[in-house]
Amino acid sequence: MPRGFLITLEGLDGSGKTTQIKRLAAWLKKRSPADPRPEDPGARLSRQGLASETWDSRRGLVLTRQPGGTATGDRIRALLLDSRSTALAPMAEMALMFADRAQAIAEVIQPALDQGKIVLCDRFTDSTEAYQGGGRELGSEPVLELHRLLCANLQPDLTLLLLPSLEASLDRARRRNESASAKTGQDEGRFELEQDAFYSRVWLKYREIAAREPHRIVLIEGDLTIDEVHEKIAAAVSERLLTASRTG
Ligand code: TYD
Repeated sequence: MPRGFLITLEGLDGSGKTTQIKRLAAWLKKRSPADPRPEDPGARLSRQGLASETWDSRRGLVLTRQPGGTATGDRIRALLLDSRSTALAPMAEMALMFADRAQAIAEVIQPALDQGKIVLCDRFTDSTEAYQGGGRELGSEPVLELHRLLCANLQPDLTLLLLPSLEASLDRARRRNESASAKTGQDEGRFELEQDAFYSRVWLKYREIAAREPHRIVLIEGDLTIDEVHEKIAAAVSERLLTASRTG
């Protein structure tokens, strides 16, 4: 059984990640073959198109997010995102992000990859590097070190980094959080309370990570429409899945 394929989505709050991950999941499902027949490559190609030629739907798709995605992770998420969690030390915040991630890898991500599935994960260690390493100014090194120690240095096969302008992301994130907490009474606004200087450090750190790892990270910049971003994402995923199927 070939190893699965780990795709992570990254970006600032309000970058449109959640919309895009849902669209990507729907797109992958739609293009999956009803009855893949590996012995018939011609028919397979015409029936499925580029991306699904490389992906056997029987292997499945797993959608998850961080923090959260497991029962333990959801409890950690509540602690991390509730704006009543005041005075959380940056090191404690980073440790909680990794506690959540270690649990998600053990419980969800690694088993799915071992079964050959595609895993779509909304945020991963690049978020910790950008927010805690950059935003909280802990630096990249402790984040990368903890990732090696606690996450067996698991690397995504592909990371889609959405970086619209800082102003557009912040406006959207703050508006969204106000209306979400008015509707649900749930408070997940602790990060949205941060000042613009914090977010510009996060934004800069994301750019630094993208420049350091151009093979893994596809950077989607600018204030594009939802459809334009989706097209770029679909093209990148198609290409990487095709490459993985040729080399894997
Ligand atoms: P979430 O509601 O998932 O935000 P979004 O929909 O924008 O992804 O909240 C996750 C918040 O947690 C977000 O502000 C980023 C922050 N975060 C970190 O600071 N470090 C991390 O390692 C992760 C995974 C998230």
